Amino acid sequence: MYLGILDTPELASAAAARIVLAVFKKEPNSILGVTTGSTPEGLYAELRAAHARGEFTLANSQAFALDEYVGISADHYERYRNVLRRELVGSRNTGLKNENLHSPNGLVSNSAAVAAQYDRDIRDAGGIDLQILGIGSNGHIGFNEPGGSLVSRTHVTPLSRQTILANARFFGHYPRNVPKTCITQGLGTIMEARILLLLAFGENKAEAVAQLAEGPISARWPATITQMHPEVYVVTDAAAASKLELSELYQERWALKFGA
Ligand code: F6R
Repeated sequence: MYLGILDTPELASAAAARIVLAVFKKEPNSILGVTTGSTPEGLYAELRAAHARGEFTLANSQAFALDEYVGISADHYERYRNVLRRELVGSRNTGLKNENLHSPNGLVSNSAAVAAQYDRDIRDAGGIDLQILGIGSNGHIGFNEPGGSLVSRTHVTPLSRQTILANARFFGHYPRNVPKTCITQGLGTIMEARILLLLAFGENKAEAVAQLAEGPISARWPATITQMHPEVYVVTDAAAASKLELSELYQERWALKFGA
């Protein structure tokens, strides 16, 4: 695991964007796994800017969403597919074509079958090359909440109370308006991506980041499973790194790979 600690979310987003650009420079048609929430917004802005400069495009790529709310209406502003369309799709964003943005359909009654099909779709496309991740303050990645299987596949699952409260800000600050269930790539699915790029900003992520890098692998902190992945980049701001014991060592390792 490489852990980069930047002073601010803006600097961290720029560092994360450099990693994405380097992957796409090497393999221009890479398949990108995309997350939602507040954390990747700066990274997506960097990717749009790089696209505008002609340095990056998703025009020939496919993207797979990490998760989706179950039962949210097709035109809801916070439906993750709609969020990702606004952030990434189109020539004024990153060039991604709408038909190449894949997301689990949370609108059908048989969502378990949809979940199983989603795993097959990822596999049939050749697998995800680079998976972008955020992290919940409870250590979830995707919506793999504490206590779930560490080898799960894409599945339907309830959101934890903590996640519902955290996401209420997207739903007028009313927890009751947050969908209670979602379809998420499983931890086993996420672990099959060739490269993981996880971003974490803010003091409320500090415990989760400390567990992620230094805690024992445990279903209590689902992101800890990424310690078993061969190529993980974690990019944080100073606040999210504030509970790490060995930050100096991580900085040295990062500088050796990417320069200071
Ligand atoms: C969202 C997702 C979640 C978020 C996490 C952090 O698609 O999979 O794991 O990445 O809840 O959310 P923010 O970035 O809003 O703090």
